[in-house]
Amino acid sequence: ATRPLIDGFARRISYVRLSVTDRCDLRCAYCMPERMQFLPKAEVLTLEELHRLSMAFIERGVRKIRLTGGEPLVRRDVMTLVQRLGREIGQGLDELTLTTNGTQLAEHAGALVDAGVRRINVSLDTLDRALFARLTRRDALDNVLAGIDAADRAGLKVKINAVALKGLNEDELPTLIAWAHERGHDVTLIEIMPLGEVEEDRFDHYLPLTTVRDALEQRWTLTPSEHRTGGPARYFDVAETGGRLGLITPLTNNFCAGCNRVRVTATGQIYMCLGQNDRVDLRAALRAPDSDAALDAALTRAIRAKPERHEFRIDAPGAAPALARHMSMTGG
Ligand code: GTP
Ligand code: 5AD
Ligand code: SF4
Repeated sequence: ATRPLIDGFARRISYVRLSVTDRCDLRCAYCMPERMQFLPKAEVLTLEELHRLSMAFIERGVRKIRLTGGEPLVRRDVMTLVQRLGREIGQGLDELTLTTNGTQLAEHAGALVDAGVRRINVSLDTLDRALFARLTRRDALDNVLAGIDAADRAGLKVKINAVALKGLNEDELPTLIAWAHERGHDVTLIEIMPLGEVEEDRFDHYLPLTTVRDALEQRWTLTPSEHRTGGPARYFDVAETGGRLGLITPLTNNFCAGCNRVRVTATGQIYMCLGQNDRVDLRAALRAPDSDAALDAALTRAIRAKPERHEFRIDAPGAAPALARHMSMTGG
């Protein structure tokens, strides 16, 4: 690109996480309240706007787009966007991918591959049916497992994302990792982040990945790996399973110095950092009279304002979340 997006800390932005909907068919207790207030549909960008926005980013040197939610596959017309963006792979875009909860993956796996998607991340915190129902407040484990199977059979590389939760899936993590590795899926564990009000106190379930790593090393040999996916995960090879384990440590090990990304909500608000409130309204630019120029200028302005780092902490019970916005607004 002739005018790459470079922030005030000399970080080049090459990765956009685009939320296509804030809605979700699950209600993960650490993510959102049972009675989550979703955005009125009229506020959400149209498919055409999502496509124009993506093209503007590609024009400015973005090489990877990840569609997120909420749950991206609950948006009716999302596959049309996937198909249109799939045509940009190899012409500026290196990778088009998705983070999904997997409930509807079985229906879409084939079409994703046909559109050029090669790799997807599926969120799955437990293989235990009762715990899944408790964590997500929906009895959908079988759908997710069928979705992962279908993705695998369609030829998609699957990565499993699991939030590490004290007293919930903590003891099951080795089983989950071994299960995934047996099937050839990488796993990344994630530290719970204080985003948005939920019923539970996240303090009760915060499990530092330093603790998890120590426990896993009692059982397995973990060797740091050179593997990189362009995300914040740092990977380890697990000798005994032959698989790869990634750790995403927003609380115990800040990875912001290497940040290469921004995220856009379904209403077109660009957040430069998951842990900060700085944002720029790209929807207003998309709907302005001279919208191409307005959008281009808004992107320049946004990237210049990218904060240096997040400062997440979960160190006391009963504390209000660091940010009012839920993860489902920005899809991570
Ligand atoms: P890969 O392309 O496979 O590396 O994916 P990824 O790890 O970038 O994306 P994914 O959607 O799988 O995200 C996994 C977890 O990492 C989610 O819980 C995200 O919220 C979190 N995450 C992704 N990017 C950031 C970031 O910039 N800051 C923080 N704090 N967390 C992030
Ligand atoms: N902290 C950490 N991870 C979260 N996710 C959702 N909410 C939170 C939170 N508060 C995870 C989901 C999914 C990914 C997109 O973000 O489990 O794997
Ligand atoms: Fe939905 Fe993902 Fe939030 Fe779970 S974590 S409620 S699957 S958006």
